[in-house]
Amino acid sequence: MNTKSTNITKVSHRVAKETRWRANGHQGGVIWLTGLSGSGKTTLAFELEQRLFKQGFQVYVLDGDNIRHGLSSDLGFSHEERTENIRRIGEVAALFADAGYIVISAFISPYRRDRRLARKAASDPFHVVHLDADLKICEKRDPKGLYAKARRGEILDFTGISAPYEKPERADLTIDTGVLSVEESMDILADYVDRAFALPEAAA
Ligand SMILES: Nc1ncnc2c1ncn2[C@@H]1O[C@H](COP(=O)(O)OP(=O)(O)OP(=O)(O)O)[C@@H](O)[C@H]1O
Ligand SMILES: [Mg+2]
Repeated sequence: MNTKSTNITKVSHRVAKETRWRANGHQGGVIWLTGLSGSGKTTLAFELEQRLFKQGFQVYVLDGDNIRHGLSSDLGFSHEERTENIRRIGEVAALFADAGYIVISAFISPYRRDRRLARKAASDPFHVVHLDADLKICEKRDPKGLYAKARRGEILDFTGISAPYEKPERADLTIDTGVLSVEESMDILADYVDRAFALPEAAA
């Protein structure tokens, strides 16, 4: 990414991060869901958002399809455009996290390097959760009929069919959403988030 902006100076907020965390009762940060199309990112992200909101958390989902209607509506699915999409999401997630939110991002995000850059953009806790359902199972589910279209050649650059998916080498959490039910997967995810975003003792 070419940086073109010059003559800019960073300004500090007057509200400390820990102050925001204490007010919210939890840390801010990012839960970065990654996995094939049909692995359950959207399903688990919105369920988790609702659960956490009911518990009084500040939480917001950034979801692939929604973002591609707005912020990234000018981008397609080539390697370069996917990279730019994830760069934008990484920056937006970092801003939400800085504001004290738990951001749940639900993007295929197939490239390791892009996920690494998103992690780097966030100065707050960033947890990669790999929804590790087999391609075969995702293709059988095909909730949006996209795999069938990709097999017919009607969609190019489709992850798993005609574009790569690089599995995380060291995910913070891996859930086999191909084998487990939605409820079982949710329990694992919600339990992880409860622990991962608890206030550090010094701030509690
Ligand atoms: N353990 C599970 N976790 C999540 N979803 C599951 C699970 N078991 C079955 N499913 C089903 O798998 C499908 C997952 O679809 P979903 O739209 O959430 O995938 P996605 O990862 O968001 O795909 P895309 O990248 O195309 O947006 C849903 O129909 C859901 O009910
Ligand atoms: Mg989705």
